[in-house]
Amino acid sequence: MAILKIARMGHPVLLARAEPVADPTAPEIKRLVRDMVETMEDASGAGLAAPQVHVPLRLFVFRVNPDRASGDAGDTAVLPNAVVINPEIELLGEDVRLRWEGCLSIPGLRAAVPRAWRIRYRGVDTDGQPVGGEVTGFHAGVVQHEFDHLDGILYPMRMTDFSLFGFNEELARVAAQQAAAQARP
Ligand code: NI
Repeated sequence: MAILKIARMGHPVLLARAEPVADPTAPEIKRLVRDMVETMEDASGAGLAAPQVHVPLRLFVFRVNPDRASGDAGDTAVLPNAVVINPEIELLGEDVRLRWEGCLSIPGLRAAVPRAWRIRYRGVDTDGQPVGGEVTGFHAGVVQHEFDHLDGILYPMRMTDFSLFGFNEELARVAAQQAAAQARP
């Protein structure tokens, strides 16, 4: 097990299209996935794609924590640590919503990014077993964000409203002030 170094925005590895994984069951892929999960947890992230740790392969890990799931029928499953190798993704329907996102490669910042509410995705795990399904909400959003990393796309490249972009600390301060104002009688 090892904590891997995370590439930050500006590094070319984040802009390259990643290559398919030839053998998802290979020992080095299992080791990479274990290290990516450990790195994601250490950095308190919700997802991590292989190019973010300088490995240009099509795989990512993510987790849906109970406090993040929207409660929607397609988003209630709480996944501790999921891996998706060689993913395919299909956006379903016309419902696109703004979703607040951060990225371990863009530390300290977050932004509202338009994402499809409902998607279908599939891939395999490190046993070669199929994973994925039809999902919504947070689950659908994190999969779109991580999938984008495999095509060299970072969330600012998806943004439509740059006024909804800021430092976590500032946004948290504003949110706290607004909550306090609403709580006042
Ligand atoms: Ni990211």
